[in-house]
Amino acid sequence: MNTIEEIHKIREEKKKELDLRVNTNLDTREKHILVCHGTGCTSSKSPKILENFRKILEEKNIENVRVIKTGCFGLCAKGPVVIIRPENTFYAHVKPEDCEEIIQTHIVENKRVERLLCKDIDGKLVEKLDELEFYKKQKRIVLKNCGVINPEDIDEYIAFDGYLALEKVLTQMTPEEVIEEMYDEEGNPVESAPHPQQILKIRFKRVPEENFIMRKKKDQ
Ligand code: FES
Repeated sequence: MNTIEEIHKIREEKKKELDLRVNTNLDTREKHILVCHGTGCTSSKSPKILENFRKILEEKNIENVRVIKTGCFGLCAKGPVVIIRPENTFYAHVKPEDCEEIIQTHIVENKRVERLLCKDIDGKLVEKLDELEFYKKQKRIVLKNCGVINPEDIDEYIAFDGYLALEKVLTQMTPEEVIEEMYDEEGNPVESAPHPQQILKIRFKRVPEENFIMRKKKDQ
């Protein structure tokens, strides 16, 4: 992509498609099966789980279901983890041989595979990710998109406001304003700012829009 307008277009188009990843009340026939590809789940065969889901969906000729690899959901001890959106069902310790049952029971018959639902610390069966005590006590900030988007698909990152800050810096702010942004009212660097010595070394230069080049990774 070569222009900021192209990024806006991708964001708009992709956002609609990704709504069912965040909106658990969405009334849609489409489903996304999210398979964790973080380090822990990958070492417990999540690539095979992903492959099996895709193969079974193809064999059964099931449409409106997509299988997506994601980053770590944060609860690696329960891995491999599979989440089905928009309902947000959380399946734990999934094995490659469980894929057939998940497709048949959850996708085709619209029921839950109870034996794969996650148990909370009190032993209670939990159906949805945000019902787990582990998640109730956290608010993800930097990693808020981890487990929601495919980290290898740059369009998904853009849809979730990726590069928005960079765009603002390049098109709306002066170098002085950018540096100012890094300090609070008392003149101390804000938590996310670089070290003051690094700030001094920063040389911001406005980049003409036609030179705004970003590599777009091919869709998989
Ligand atoms: S690696 Fe899968 S939940 Fe962390």
